[in-house]
Amino acid sequence: MQLTVIGSGYVGTTIAACFAAFGHEVTAIDIDEEIVEAINNGQAPISEPGLEDLLETHVGNRLEATTSYDAVPESDVTFLAIGTPSNDDGSIDLGALGAAAEATGAALADKDERHLVVIKSTVTPPSITDVLEPAIREGADNNDAIEVGMNPEFLREGSAVADFQNPDKLVVGTNSEWASQRLHDVFEPVLETETPVVDTDPQTASMIKYANNAFLASKISLVNDLGNICKEFGLDAYEVMDAIGLDNRISEQFLRSGVGWGGSCFPKDVNAIIAAAREEAYDPAVLKAAVEINDRQPERMLELLESHVDLEDARIAVLGLAFKPRTDDIRNSRAIPMIERLKERGTEIVAYDPVAIEPMQERFPNIEYASSAADALAGADGTVIVTGWDEFATLDEELDAMATPVVVDGRRIVDPRPRITYEGLTW
Ligand code: UDX
Repeated sequence: MQLTVIGSGYVGTTIAACFAAFGHEVTAIDIDEEIVEAINNGQAPISEPGLEDLLETHVGNRLEATTSYDAVPESDVTFLAIGTPSNDDGSIDLGALGAAAEATGAALADKDERHLVVIKSTVTPPSITDVLEPAIREGADNNDAIEVGMNPEFLREGSAVADFQNPDKLVVGTNSEWASQRLHDVFEPVLETETPVVDTDPQTASMIKYANNAFLASKISLVNDLGNICKEFGLDAYEVMDAIGLDNRISEQFLRSGVGWGGSCFPKDVNAIIAAAREEAYDPAVLKAAVEINDRQPERMLELLESHVDLEDARIAVLGLAFKPRTDDIRNSRAIPMIERLKERGTEIVAYDPVAIEPMQERFPNIEYASSAADALAGADGTVIVTGWDEFATLDEELDAMATPVVVDGRRIVDPRPRITYEGLTW
């Protein structure tokens, strides 16, 4: 099939490369000339295992990038994969996606054959019918050959290519048998592996994405709430969670309690669905609590640290800046509130991450950054472990080099040992 993918960010680039690997002819369209050039040179604009290999294999053959929408009417299906950032009130900003939707419509104004436009971006159910579909139709001069569908994406950062190629499920949100069949055809290689398919309408498809992320984020917040109670009782939350994970209805996944969830999806999506619910005059109590517990975890770590060190005069090493290991992404990383709260207390901060120092330097230019965990720890009065990088598990004499060896672990990555005052956040 011939496919066009509008937007070459995290999701857009990954799906364009993977569609080419499925055997489709793909045109990736982005307004940013640098991104287009990078893709055409076989370079991935984001760092994801396997992505660059796919680009190198398929660029110049089944995949090309461009700034022009000319390929849209020539293609069978167009995917919209443009970011939906948060407004100040938590609702999603549809500005860039709306503009791309209108431009896609305009490119299709004169097309006679039926054309399917699929929204890949995460958008709330009402925004499909109230904003995006009207934008496409207006751009297209109400050409009724266009159909709009929704195909939410569940890939995770760090395993984007593998997740896309082997998903747990495929959600196909369309308004007609024809549109559904088109999407089944696009995903034929995935369907051959007997991946379950949920065929539904576009709005339900979009709600499935929010429900999925809201459920996982709330699961971690519930585990953190229970974990905080365990800590108050002097118990180990991991022992408790390992046991409840044996109940098939709970499952052992996403039970790691600690400093909480971050990244580009969970915080944005939970806030967006809360804001969209409030628009309907519904106040979602559990989701609000999930956010509140998540906001509380960095402060709880500092309270534990404060029970051993006076933070006003202390030098504290913040270990881990990325929102999770194996990425340099700091979006909504728990390290951000951690640094903010330490700054409020007048603490001297020295921060370290194996790959995410540069983006954090843009966010906090005035704190000190160390080039290794050992350098960060040397002479420090305490440390907070914010990201579960493997290399923190092997810290040993580096911990002895602290002025006062106090470790508050937010990811259960450092082993407690003699000579060190060790506090697990929920254990
Ligand atoms: C998530 C969803 O998993 C994915 O389906 C969706 O498409 C995008 O959002 P991602 O943001 O890449 O993916 O990260 P994920 O690996 O799910 O972790 C999210 C956050 O939860 C991280 O900050 C992680 O540290 C935290 N987490 C995860 C926990 O604190 N405990 C856990 O048990 C699991």
